[in-house]
Amino acid sequence: MVVSEEISHFRYVLTEEAQGYRDQGSPEAQVYAAVPPEGIAMEDLEAKLGKIVTKNGLSHAIKHGYLKSDKSSGKKLVMRGKEEFTEDTTQSNLRNISAGQEVDKGVADALKIRKLVKAETWKTYNLKKGPKFALEKKKPATELTHEMLQKGTWRDADFKAYNFNALGQPTYGGHLHPLLKVRTQIRKAFTSMGFEEMPTNNYVESSFWNFDALFQPQQHPARDAHDTFFLTKPAATPLSKQPQDYVQHVRDIHENGGFGSIGYGSHWKESEAEKNLLRTHTTAVSSRMLYKLAQEGFKPAKYFSIDRVFRNEAIDRTHLAEFHQIEGVVCDRGLTLGDLIGTLHLFFSRLGLPKLRFKPAFNPYTEPSMEIFSYSEQLGKWVEVGNSGMFRPEMLRPMGLPEDVNVIAWGLGLERPTMILYGIDNIRDLFGHKVSLSVVKKNPICRLNL
Ligand code: PHE
Repeated sequence: MVVSEEISHFRYVLTEEAQGYRDQGSPEAQVYAAVPPEGIAMEDLEAKLGKIVTKNGLSHAIKHGYLKSDKSSGKKLVMRGKEEFTEDTTQSNLRNISAGQEVDKGVADALKIRKLVKAETWKTYNLKKGPKFALEKKKPATELTHEMLQKGTWRDADFKAYNFNALGQPTYGGHLHPLLKVRTQIRKAFTSMGFEEMPTNNYVESSFWNFDALFQPQQHPARDAHDTFFLTKPAATPLSKQPQDYVQHVRDIHENGGFGSIGYGSHWKESEAEKNLLRTHTTAVSSRMLYKLAQEGFKPAKYFSIDRVFRNEAIDRTHLAEFHQIEGVVCDRGLTLGDLIGTLHLFFSRLGLPKLRFKPAFNPYTEPSMEIFSYSEQLGKWVEVGNSGMFRPEMLRPMGLPEDVNVIAWGLGLERPTMILYGIDNIRDLFGHKVSLSVVKKNPICRLNL
């Protein structure tokens, strides 16, 4: 719209000191005039004219032979020199410069060295109407629109040139959450050991499979609403939807025992077994799988799962009301506690935790049961990493598994190893509404020592 031409300017201006010399005479003229024929003591000269004028004037006057210094009397005297000072050219040069007249470059440079003038530069612009001059700014069109075509306004439209070098908006893809990445690693550990993944796609489970099938007594405190989230809608799965003969076997083992067990000896309430809940452990999935295996005709099997479970717990920096469980199950003839210990050593060493210790524990569905501890080099102590055991005959025999078939199983959380791998010390920074998305975007790929 506007064409502009830049013009550079240059001139010499007097320094502050030089403005005095322009009006009162150059320092050399002032000094020369102050020196009488018999000479004058240096300090008297300085007292008369001041240090700056004396120094500046004297050096110039001595250089040109107008004055000289004499120390023969033992005192520093300033005397007239062999040249006579007749014309104050410095003053007239300063006057000319001050009046804006051009001076010789040599003259200006000499004055610059004496710090009497300085160069000043500035820029001005010459503005002219350009070829597209207008009084209002018109935005060039970036798109050919339907309307332009219809009204024909495209003919006069000013189109913006296409920028083929523009990089465009950066595009962002999805990002894997750390729990998903570690889950993939653990899944690999299981599959490399010949384990098959169980279908865990049901958060809602019936108490029958979550508790009763696992020989968990109906009065067990974990079944209390304090530990379990029960559903209000739908509140129950009728037992008529479960395999009838199996329900009967489960009722029998709870009420009367069998296979060498005395059972719980109390009334087994259907309404309790029908209650729907958010599964409290993935062992509910294992019980469904083992029942299915027994029905299809037993053959050795190795199963695993890694999925979400829910517990009505107080939330703090290490506990959430929903978390992920890793579960391993091996079903075969004649398995022993030695097989369980050996399998746990193999599995945990694949997760990078080779040092294990076991402590007797209790689960309603396993006997014996063992808590698993691993030595953490990082923390310098033994930390609990999981729970395990051999499923009880009270759980397996009602399903129809042969008498000589044993099942070893273990479970652990996914969150704790993930937090250790990613250096996260508050579980709420890993999972839930407080997680920062940038942490998910930027987190590295951490590998287990598989
Ligand atoms: N279900 C147990 C828990 O939730 C873990 C476990 C699985 C224990 C299998 C023994 C066998 O803690």
